[in-house]
Amino acid sequence: MAAVNWYPLPVASSEAGGRVFADLMRLAEVVEPGQPGWTRRVFTPEYLQSRELVWELMVSSGLEVRRDPAGNLIGTLRGTDAGLPALVLGSHTDTVAGGGRFDGPCGVMAAIEAVRRIREGGVRPRRTVWVVDFLGEEPNDFGISCVGSRAAAGHLSREHLQLVDRGGRTLAEALAQMGGDPDRIAEARWRAGAASAYLELHVEQGARLEEAARRLAVVTAIAGIHRAEIRLEGRADHAGTTPMDRRRDALLAAAEVSLEVERLGRRKGLGVATVGRLELEPNSPNVVAERATLIAEYRSGDRGWLSATDELLQELVQKVPARRGVRGQLTWLSREDPTVCSEELRSVLRASAREIGEEPLELASWAGHDAVQVATACPVAMLFVPSRGGRSHCPEEWTDPEQVEVGTRALAAAATRLAG
Ligand code: GLV
Ligand code: MN
Ligand code: MN
Repeated sequence: MAAVNWYPLPVASSEAGGRVFADLMRLAEVVEPGQPGWTRRVFTPEYLQSRELVWELMVSSGLEVRRDPAGNLIGTLRGTDAGLPALVLGSHTDTVAGGGRFDGPCGVMAAIEAVRRIREGGVRPRRTVWVVDFLGEEPNDFGISCVGSRAAAGHLSREHLQLVDRGGRTLAEALAQMGGDPDRIAEARWRAGAASAYLELHVEQGARLEEAARRLAVVTAIAGIHRAEIRLEGRADHAGTTPMDRRRDALLAAAEVSLEVERLGRRKGLGVATVGRLELEPNSPNVVAERATLIAEYRSGDRGWLSATDELLQELVQKVPARRGVRGQLTWLSREDPTVCSEELRSVLRASAREIGEEPLELASWAGHDAVQVATACPVAMLFVPSRGGRSHCPEEWTDPEQVEVGTRALAAAATRLAG
């Protein structure tokens, strides 16, 4: 890790306004060829390449950069008091397939910019600041999300590392390809008391800020997410010669299971439920489907709703496919409880928003974030900036440059307060 001299960066603030947006657009140039939108999925060569830019931006902002064994990029700005726990700012830079340019990168670029502004202020903080680009926040082909933040919180197990994708590669192998070191994964865990607080700026991914004509929100809590893989085993048969009443059609069982999952999300209580992934075998127009594999996920801020949904899902996976002679089997991929953001950090974020002339909304997050994992290591809080039309996880995802700037200023103000 190269040592960095402490010196204030002389940069005019009008120039500073456009820096984060320019960095976001530069990162958006590194995407997977032939994929829709701004696709940069974890464990792809493009993701690995894009992080060279993140590394460079960290270095040029005065951070000492290293890659931990989980593949997280960690930039360190040393404070004057090495004995104090670090303030951590971060998010992720991977995207969903067909995703946008803001979900994740906005928080990483704003965190880097917050450090630049602290340095430009010319007063070295007492507390060390870490800027973290967590590896792979979005769900991946191994069936888990938040790989890097999971490891930082000590939740990435040996069993996780042995998970296998469709190509037969283990998560350990994939991590090594991203510059991680799976044999030393335990060293990625932040030691107890190493971090004092975690702040994450993120795009809202919904339309509540836009509808309220506000530019900032302080996040109160983050919904819990439960995900399950459901395998449906029917029988492959000829689509012409097999009478309709002699079929064991896995595709139709999957269709019925999906509709039942939708009903779970529509029932009384506050929750949403989705089937967003479905694979069929043999997936041929003239063969009755033999196998269907789908992933059901549901979210709520209410633990009771989540556990009741677990039971209803297990029940329906036994009953619904059986009506068609199809066997259903459920495997849990992850079950995260809702996360409550720190009241103390929320009040710092509120004060920082007001300091820059913004009255923030208070919103719960229905999207998952690295902050959920980190919350077991230190108190966490989040800021949201608007998403145009509430669109996210799609190429149209957009936040205006001025809105990115407002969020960055609030984050930098909060970081300045907390780093001392
Ligand atoms: C993360 O993007 C999620 O909410 O699924
Ligand atoms: Mn996302
Ligand atoms: Mn995200």
